[in-house]
Amino acid sequence: KSTNNGVRQGRETFSSGLAVFFATLGSAVGLGNIWKFPYLTGQNGGGAFILVYLISVVLVGVPIMIAEFYLGKTTRANAVGVFKKLKASRFWRIIGFMGMMSALLIMFFYSSVAGWVYSYVLKAVRGDFKVLSTMPFDAAGKAVEAQFGSTVGGTFSPFAWQAAAVAVVTVILVAGVKKGIERVTKTLMPVLLILIVIIAVRSLTLEGAGKGLDFLMGVDFSKITPSVILTALGLSFFKLSLGMGTMITYGSYFNEDNKIVNTAFKVAASDTMVSLLAGLAVFPVVFTFGLEPGGGPGLLFNTIPLVFSLIPFGNVLLILFFSLAAIAATTAMISMVEVPVIVLTEELGISRRNAVVSISAVILAVGALTVHPESMFGSTMIFGKSFFDFFDYLSSNIFLPVGGLLIAIFVGWKVKTKDLSLSFGSASNDGVSKLAPVYHIILKFVTPILLLIVFLNAVGVIGI
Ligand code: PHE
Repeated sequence: KSTNNGVRQGRETFSSGLAVFFATLGSAVGLGNIWKFPYLTGQNGGGAFILVYLISVVLVGVPIMIAEFYLGKTTRANAVGVFKKLKASRFWRIIGFMGMMSALLIMFFYSSVAGWVYSYVLKAVRGDFKVLSTMPFDAAGKAVEAQFGSTVGGTFSPFAWQAAAVAVVTVILVAGVKKGIERVTKTLMPVLLILIVIIAVRSLTLEGAGKGLDFLMGVDFSKITPSVILTALGLSFFKLSLGMGTMITYGSYFNEDNKIVNTAFKVAASDTMVSLLAGLAVFPVVFTFGLEPGGGPGLLFNTIPLVFSLIPFGNVLLILFFSLAAIAATTAMISMVEVPVIVLTEELGISRRNAVVSISAVILAVGALTVHPESMFGSTMIFGKSFFDFFDYLSSNIFLPVGGLLIAIFVGWKVKTKDLSLSFGSASNDGVSKLAPVYHIILKFVTPILLLIVFLNAVGVIGI
């Protein structure tokens, strides 16, 4: 159906290589770096986990990001339209449909957490955590937990904060690719990078910095178990926004000169750097104050306010830290929601504004189920999980790996090495690339096999 040709010819692109870099980095950097990465590192053995994570970024993350950019850039189409344009059999459109589902599933719970982060910015600005510094250590620990409990457990306020986070995303996306996504990420990503460096430096000058560094950098090979490997692989996926068409979509906004391989490497490297900086920000304080490194998902909301309340200029750092987390969460969310938005506008001819508003409405309607995971619905709603955990599990452990697997297989087996090679080069180097054959083989064999292992384990077919 060519009813949309007019729209597609006037399709927006990012305006420069730098814009492409900040937009894609804005997608990758999110709560994954600041919230998930430190606590998973803490739970899975520190440096050993980080080593395995780095290997998965190189063997799975970068190749799939390259494959997604390739699909988007060469077709200039949305996650469903790509496969129509390439005249692939109908089956492959499932990648786009699953991607839209994943975007929604992740948004259902991610927007809740983003709401908590937004509310923590306000709490920090109001100085709600200053009182912690006047308490004995134990009492402060209980008080900060109580703060979190009341944030999450409030009757109406968590809905309002979630709605605020989704509203910000809505406004940015209605403004479009250049005026919305590009402008916001180009302004905020440099700010975020500066903030995280400041916070890491402050943290590294604490007394327990040495122990924190040992924890992050000392590799204890006995800690590398099959389950640690699988956790690291799964994280690299979620982290780099892969397997759901986000990078296909952003790739479709590349212009001729934007380089695929180069961008993938820069984004993967910078994103990993932000995760490591988040680790450098968190672990020295954990060890300085004798906290538990394996404390789990509460690390961000309980530990950070506590420790920052106890150091000089802590409240300023606290405001900075949660602002940073809010920026990261927001730029990641806009990339998730853009996936279904551009499919609806281009495939169904719906206006951008209507597409954004209706998807946001769906996110809020269903996402409301995650706001009170325990108190409102009980903790065992579906398959023994709360809605929050269920949406997280379904997206990260099933939809993203299957999506990534299909993308790797499609580009590995249905695309010719020559075509990859042409798209890897830019107009300026005659469109040739020596890397294409290498990535083609990785996408054909290495990545699918690794992903198959992760996926089969996730659904319990094999139990490693
Ligand atoms: N990469 C984001 C993060 O680390 C999450 C994300 C996943 C964003 C999938 C887009 C798509 O928080």
